[in-house]
Amino acid sequence: MKQKFSVLLMIITAVLVLAACGTKDNNSGSDSGSGDDNKVYMVGTEATFAPFESIDADGNIVGIDVDILQAIADEVGIQVQWRNVGWDAVFSMINNKETDIGASGITITEDRQKTFDFTEPYYESKLLIAVPVDSTISSLAELENKKIAVQINATGHVAAKKLQGETSKNILAFDSQPLAIQEMLNGNADAVIGDNAVVYEYMKANPDKKLKIVEDDAFEREYYGLMVRKGNKELLDKLNEGLQKIKENGKLEEITGSAFWNE
Ligand code: ARG
Repeated sequence: MKQKFSVLLMIITAVLVLAACGTKDNNSGSDSGSGDDNKVYMVGTEATFAPFESIDADGNIVGIDVDILQAIADEVGIQVQWRNVGWDAVFSMINNKETDIGASGITITEDRQKTFDFTEPYYESKLLIAVPVDSTISSLAELENKKIAVQINATGHVAAKKLQGETSKNILAFDSQPLAIQEMLNGNADAVIGDNAVVYEYMKANPDKKLKIVEDDAFEREYYGLMVRKGNKELLDKLNEGLQKIKENGKLEEITGSAFWNE
């Protein structure tokens, strides 16, 4: 009886020890900076942003950002695991060390660079205005007193605030760019300010939605980068190394259809 008990105790101890190891492995998403080769880097995204990231019919996160990061990972021999966490969490989870990389069509901005580090740019983008097909709006300036729908804390939101002031009641901020577009189509806003490639992709995927595009040179060029925790130089260097390689070997251009860095 006593013997059985101690065998049982040994088994329980073994199970607990194994479980503890397992937990440790799962947590390896947070960067230890120890250079552990088996480390899987956790990637946070907001996957309503086709063609950069969206959820396919099987529930997988797919898109240009996924392909780019995988190509980089293959070049430098690291592993990545994607999570669809939501736009705010793309940023907050990096700071909490729940993720290591933000890959979400993220524009490199001076403001964000105060809190995060970014790789070199991998894509050139620009904001544009989407309006209902029968709208007469033809420029950014005309939106000064109009209702603008945006994705919250995205560069389109920043542009709207620059135009109307930080506290404007005419800016409606939603969790995703498709939601902002839908709200406008429902008649709750006059226009959307969003990322060009994504709005065009939305129109292609939703030909029934009666949208029209207004481009305006008042919007500046933007560049997407991969984002890491401030000071995570080890990971940033790896990502930049891989990115440089896929710029040189043509892979990045193959994925995005653009070689803006050579232009
Ligand atoms: N490029 C814009 C920004 O950085 C919008 C990005 C939104 N990305 C997304 N996956 N929803 O603010």
